[in-house]
Amino acid sequence: MTEMMMDLQKAYDSIKDKIPFTPDVALVLGSGLGGFAEHIEDKVYIPYNEIDGFPVSTVVGHAGTFVCGHIGDVKIVAMQGRVHYYEGYSMDKVVMPIRIMKLMGAKTLILTNAAGGMNFDFVPGDLMMITDHITSFVPSPLIGKNIEELGTRFPDMSHVYDADLQNIMKETASKLNIELKQGVYLQTTGPNYETPAEINMYRSLGADAVGMSTACEAMAAMHMGMRIAGVSCITNLAAGMNKTPLNHKEVGDTANMIADKFTALIKNFIINIK
Ligand code: HPA
Repeated sequence: MTEMMMDLQKAYDSIKDKIPFTPDVALVLGSGLGGFAEHIEDKVYIPYNEIDGFPVSTVVGHAGTFVCGHIGDVKIVAMQGRVHYYEGYSMDKVVMPIRIMKLMGAKTLILTNAAGGMNFDFVPGDLMMITDHITSFVPSPLIGKNIEELGTRFPDMSHVYDADLQNIMKETASKLNIELKQGVYLQTTGPNYETPAEINMYRSLGADAVGMSTACEAMAAMHMGMRIAGVSCITNLAAGMNKTPLNHKEVGDTANMIADKFTALIKNFIINIK
């Protein structure tokens, strides 16, 4: 067994008695979106600091706990608060929670985040279904000795965001009368926001939204053969598209503003994918 797999196993073993069931779906709640966890029934909390060797989030607005419970009759494990590369963790630590949720038994992963919109058709408050991503500006979480127990050395990334899940998400949004934009998410390291020149470059590369998470998690999940869906909450227009400077408060405020729409979409999506 590789050293990394032993660390994962140790982390998993330290909480396995607290996990109430084998989850169907794993859900990562992005910045300002952690409130969704209130809608989970029969909640069992497993704080990250109780997990052996687990990275603990240091960002305001990221609570740092697994929440296990039900949405309808779907068993889910949600991450209320994620860890980011910019906090100083190595990429393999950043994706450790995703790997633990796979060890719990989750086969489907829903990733959510707050993101800056750079597509000229987007406005703050939009929800964007992620159709693909660009990770070329951050290190791969798969660098290092391959964890054979999890997946292959050279995983294919042609279809990271599952086509069936995308169809279900579009149908769910349409039934709820929620406008759902679609696009490519680009991950940066952060923690600084981008310059206008960078945004122009990212847009010309085909990206629609930019953020500091998600794509590395999708990559690790893809490596393990999970079914992946992603949603970005467009909390602001990206740098240079607005006269006002960007700030973390605006991100949180917009995420709160669209909490109801986000909750309705994710809740019904989870019920529909079962
Ligand atoms: N850039 C990067 N990350 C973000 C942004 C942004 O404009 N908004 C929310 N997360």
